Formats: sequence, C-alpha cells, structure tokens
Amino acid sequence: MNPRHFLSSDDITSSEQKALIARARQLKGSRTRHRKSLAGKSIGMIFEKPSTRTRISFEVAVTEMGGHPVILRSDEMQLGRGETLEDTGRVLSRYLDALVVRTYGQDRLEGLAESSTIPVINALSDLEHPCQALADVMTVAERFDRPSDVRFVYLGDGNNVCHSLLLAGAKAGLGSVTAVCPEGFEPIEPLVERSISIGEETGTKILTTPDPLEACEGAHVLYTDVWASMGQEAEHAKRLKSFKGFQLDETLLARAAAGAIVMHCLPAHRGEEISAEVIDGPASAVWDQAENRLHTQKALVEWLLKELP
Ligand code: CP
Ligand code: NVA
Repeated sequence: MNPRHFLSSDDITSSEQKALIARARQLKGSRTRHRKSLAGKSIGMIFEKPSTRTRISFEVAVTEMGGHPVILRSDEMQLGRGETLEDTGRVLSRYLDALVVRTYGQDRLEGLAESSTIPVINALSDLEHPCQALADVMTVAERFDRPSDVRFVYLGDGNNVCHSLLLAGAKAGLGSVTAVCPEGFEPIEPLVERSISIGEETGTKILTTPDPLEACEGAHVLYTDVWASMGQEAEHAKRLKSFKGFQLDETLLARAAAGAIVMHCLPAHRGEEISAEVIDGPASAVWDQAENRLHTQKALVEWLLKELP
C-alpha cells in the first residue's frame, strides 16, 4: 500500500481534517494517557531551515506517544554534501516509520515523498505550512462553536502560512477566509482558485483584497505572519516599506467583531507585522495556537501510521 503523505493542507479531506481535530482535542485533554500509540515507531525529522515550535512539538509529541524521534539537520547529513533527497528518502524508508521535513521548494518534498515508502510530512516549505494550519483550525474550533459563522482574516504576506490557511480554512467550512495582502505579495493564483473550489463545496467564501481597514470590519479572527520569511532575509528592509499599513494593531483590532481573537504562527516581530499591545493583549490566542501544534501533530502522526500495514 502506498503511504499517505501530508505535504499540503489539501492532502486531507474535510472529514479527515475534522476527525484529526477531534482526536487532537481528545489528546489535549489527556496528555499522558496515550503513551503507547507510537510504541516501536521511529520518526525522522529533517530540518533545512531553523525551527523552534515545529521541531520541539514533533519531538515531544512522538516521545509522549512512546515513539522514538530522530532529529536530523541537513548539514549533518550527506544531504548537505549533495546526496539527493530521493536517495535519502529511499534509504530512510528502510529505517524509519515516517519522515517530517522542513525545506525550501515544494518540489523537494514531492520528490522525497515519491521515493519514500513511509509517510512524509511537510514541516514547512516555501509554498505551505500545513501542520501550522491544522493547529490553527483547531484553535479556531476551540474558540468558536460554529465555524460557518467565523470571518477569518489573514493580513500581510501571501506566503506559505497564508496558502495553507486558505486551503485549511476552506476545508474547515469557515464562513469566509480573506487574504489581505499588498499588491505584489498576494497568494498564488492556482492556490486561491483551488481554495475557492473547496469553499464551493464547504460553504466558505474565499476573498482577496489589498484593503486592511475594510477587511477587518466585523471579523472574528485576525491572523498575521512575518513580512520576510526564512530565506527572504535580504529583502527585509524593502519589505518593511511594502507592508506599511498592514501591521495588525489596535486600530485594526478595534474594527473587528466583539470577542475577536488575534492569531500569529510565531516567531513574531513586535512593531513590524503586529504591535506589542495586540500580541500581548487580551485578544491574543497565540500561545494556545503554539500549544495546539503538539496535539494536532500527535493526531496526524498517529493517523498516518495507522493507515499503514
Ligand atoms: N510556527 C512555526 O512553525 O514555528 P517554528 O519556525 O519555530 O517551527
Ligand atoms: N512564513 C514564515 C513562517 C514561520 C513559521 C517562514 O516561512 O519563515
């Protein structure tokens, strides 16, 4: 049987997403009761970019479920000396039960998945961050009883996090997901089109606009991410200018609905994409969001391994 991979928020159906979140909520309620579900399983993790949350939450998730996490930095492997990801995948499939990978191009993940006989999980690529979006949908579900009522607004760069949120928000059947990005920084068209078509099935409206003030009016969730992602450090100064007016601050929050929450995948740059008052204020859900990475990843790994013989 071919393994299931999780390279995109679009790699699971709406009902699979729902089931994973339900399981994650159960696991969150009893952190120590599921010690055995990964017993005897070794989960490899390759990081080609830095990570705090993803790396530690996966490592703790696997350990708490009785599995063995094997953390690898690409520069400590032959991968860093030119061995192909495909050959790496073939070999690691002989040792491991699943592979978690943070890398640059989505094509690298796809090549790896094709050559692997074990599930490959996208721990962030330039195109998507589906593990983050899964935890984010769980966080929204914890805060709002009816997802179909939720107006979700993402502000800033139309990047990996934005892409996965559009897809995952549409799968979750949120009321709407609006990407508010400056001109030239919009999410890529095929991904927006795909999110629109998922939304036609689930009832989610997918919108894009360059107008933060209008988009935040009556919103229930305001979400942002860094303006310069990993790999874009050289563009940082230029991007600060392009994103002027897109800071998630008290002015934008004041336009949102009563009880609105603020989300950020972290790491945050206070004073750039988000103000300190807002991220550290009462509307902030960012620490729950970060915690939920642990629970959703437990549910994800457990499910992907269950699908295998
Ligand atoms: N949000 C997130 O993926 O954080 P890290 O880069 O620290 O893993
Ligand atoms: N868009 C950010 C997310 C970090 C978790 C990046 O790719 O650096």
